[in-house]
Order: sequence, then C-alpha cells, then structure tokens
Amino acid sequence: MISNRELFQRNLAHSTNLPLGLEIERAKGKLPTSSAANCLLPTRSEAYYLYPMISNRELFQRNLAHTTNLPLGLEIERAKGNYLYSPDGKKYLDLISGISVSNIGHLHPNVVAAIHAQLEKHMHLQVYGEYVVAPQVQLATKLLELLPKKFESVYLTNSGAEAIEGAMKLAKRATGRHEIISFKNAYHGSTHGALSIMGGEEFKQAFRPLLPAVRQLDFNEIEQLQHITKKTAAVFVEPVQGEAGYNPATPEFLKALRARCSHVGALLVFDEIQTGLGRTGHWFAMQKYGVTPDVVALAKGLGGGMPIGAFCSPKSLMDTLKENPMLGHITTFGGHPVSCAAALATLQTIAAENLMHGITEKEMLFRKLLKHPKIKAVTGTGLMLAAHVDSFETVERTMHRCLQQGVITDWFLFNQTALRISPPLTLTFEEIEMACSVICDSLS
Ligand SMILES: Cc1ncc(COP(=O)(O)O)c(C=O)c1O
Repeated sequence: MISNRELFQRNLAHSTNLPLGLEIERAKGKLPTSSAANCLLPTRSEAYYLYPMISNRELFQRNLAHTTNLPLGLEIERAKGNYLYSPDGKKYLDLISGISVSNIGHLHPNVVAAIHAQLEKHMHLQVYGEYVVAPQVQLATKLLELLPKKFESVYLTNSGAEAIEGAMKLAKRATGRHEIISFKNAYHGSTHGALSIMGGEEFKQAFRPLLPAVRQLDFNEIEQLQHITKKTAAVFVEPVQGEAGYNPATPEFLKALRARCSHVGALLVFDEIQTGLGRTGHWFAMQKYGVTPDVVALAKGLGGGMPIGAFCSPKSLMDTLKENPMLGHITTFGGHPVSCAAALATLQTIAAENLMHGITEKEMLFRKLLKHPKIKAVTGTGLMLAAHVDSFETVERTMHRCLQQGVITDWFLFNQTALRISPPLTLTFEEIEMACSVICDSLS
C-alpha cells in the first residue's frame, strides 16, 4: 500500500525541489489560520519542509546505508515485552530479540527507570577510565560477582566487536606473542581485527590483507588443537557457535582446548557475546560447561537494549594495558553511563525475575513442538536454537510466511539451511506453542 504522499513524490512532475507537500483531503470555507496551518508556511529551514512529506520507508531506502540488496524493511514503531508493533498496529512475536539482545524483553520498565534516573544525573563525562563514574563501577562490580572468581577486572566497550578487539590486543600485550587462533564458521564481529579471526572466507576475502598470523581450526576437532603452540597468543572460541547455525561445542572439546591453552601458555578467550546473560540457562555458558577461560567478551544482552560490551580478565592480565605504552586500549564512549545504568538494571532484572529458571524446559518444549517432515534437526542449547531444513529457499519462504502470521524469525550467516530462534528469555510456554505452530504451518 503506497501512500498518496509517496506517489506524489515519486510520480508527479515537480516544479521546485522543495514542494510544500501539504496533503489536503477536502476544502470548505476559508483557509484556516490555526497554528497547525501556520507551521507549514515557508518560514523555517528547507529540511523542515522536505522531510515531513517523505515516508520513513522512503527515507530508509534513500538515506540509510544498507548491508544487502534485500533488507527486510519491516517498519516497527514500538516494542514492548516479547512483541514488536508496526505503525499500522500489527503485532509481531519476536523470536530473535534483535539477535540475542533483548533477553529481558523489550522496553523493560526496570531498564527504562534506570535510564531515566541516570539521565537526571549525567550522560557522557570523559573518555573511558579517567573519572570515577558510579554506573560503570557498579556494573563492573556486579559482573565480577556473577563471573567465576578468576575474573577481577572489567573493561567496558561500545560493542561486541570492540570487546573482541580489546581482548585481542590484551592477549598480544600479555603474552608478547602475536598468533591468534579461532575456528571455522566463527563470528566475532565485523571490524578489521574481529574480521581477521572470522571463520568464513566469503566475508573476509574482499578486505584482505587482514591481520597476519591468524589461523582457523576445525571446531570440535580435538586433534586439531595440536596447532595451538607456544607461539599462540590466544584462542578465541564461541561456546555455541552463533552464525554457524547454533552449533554447540562438545564439553570434551572445550575441556581439551582449556588444557592445551594452559599447556602452551596461550590465553583462552570465550566469546560469550551471544551465549552470555542467561541465554543458555546460566549467566554464562562457561558455567554450563564448567570450563573457565582467561578472558571473556560480552555485549548484546548485557545492555537490556542499550549498546554496551565488555571484556573481563584477571587483574594481572588487564593491567598490561596500562604500560609500555600506557593507554593500551582507549575508547570515548565505551561504558557510556546511561548504557551502564541500563546494563546494571538488566543484570538485576535477570536475577530478580529468575529469568534463567525454566530455560531448559522452554528449550525442551521447542524441541518437542518443532516436529515437521521438513525439519531435519534442531540444534543449539537453551534459547538459542536452529531448526535445520533442506534449503535456503525453504528458510526464506518460512521466514516470510511466519512474518505474515506475526512471528519474526531469521537466518544465519554461515548456515543457509537453518532458521534462527533466539527469543527473549521472557517468552512464555503459550507463546512457544503459538510460535511453533506458526513455524510448522509456514513450513507446510
Ligand atoms: C558471537 C558474537 N561475537 C561478536 C559479535 C559482534 O558484536 P557487535 O555486533 O556488537 O559488534 C557478535 C554479533 O553478532 C556475535 O554474535
């Protein structure tokens, strides 16, 4: 349905670049002199007149950078709990939570209140790490309470990729080595360093040369771990590979990896950017596996919808960023006070609402109900699940049919034949039943 305003812009010849664009439905009597009419008189800036007459959808197409030729283009006006709402009032059940971000649901009142309270005090003050900023300090303290004792220091960042970049620099600085190992089909972010350790050549090749001395081993292949040597600064691993189609590490693999890293003095870095903050039924997947890394990277669900990331390590390691030279990693907005306040409220909400309780039961219900001749397998753990089908066409078609029926799903970067399910942890059992019925119906 294209609006008259849009068709006016697109199809009608214009005699100026700035037509007034006042939309009139009917006319009767004298021209009104109300303030609403006055504000359309040409007394303000050009931009003021141009923008109101173009729909957001059109401006999205025109002015916003796109990362594919086929953006989903779903227009969302507001979001609350487990649902998103389009401007026409259509309601969508969110099965992907902005890719594992809205773990506690959208616009959680505790997070909103924490943001408001922080806005009453201050926003940005100074680059990261110079001033004593209460929300940063309190968030770091809470995170260290939740992580194994080994973790003693938190570096707050803007994003997941920045947390990975920081962890890579920390590993080089702390070990004096520069080789970094990761795994095939790994996703750690899109900046140059994070891209270098990505496990998918298709997305990397156009940007070479990337970081040297980087290699990818086969995931879950214990024999390959012999390639981790005394030259290796760090090994980066996702306990459950996200973009591979929710492919969990085997416990034996992670244990062998831990042992090998300790043996050769390489740092083991867990990328828990997607697995963290309750998604696997534990605060962090490391607790589910009983394997403790040296460094952990966090982001996504941490901010309860606000942008923030972190990398955490023992203090002796983190302190290496302070010297030779100092300022080993700097960031202006990392650990923004408002994001920190939101993150602290998020952690408190996960605990207070016991949101990790019942994750295994929710996973089981998904597994029980995602039964369909076209579903070959369901992989993943907790509320990061992938329904594997025969082709990308099936994935695409199912996604679109689900969308028509008000359920949002997604696809994966390195797995063309799986449907992504990564809902808010607040998803109810009834909503799981509804979602599975829509998915199976869409597959049919
Ligand atoms: C496992 C993992 N690591 C790192 C990142 C990068 O995080 P960001 O997009 O915040 O830079 C992502 C994002 O999808 C991720 O899933």
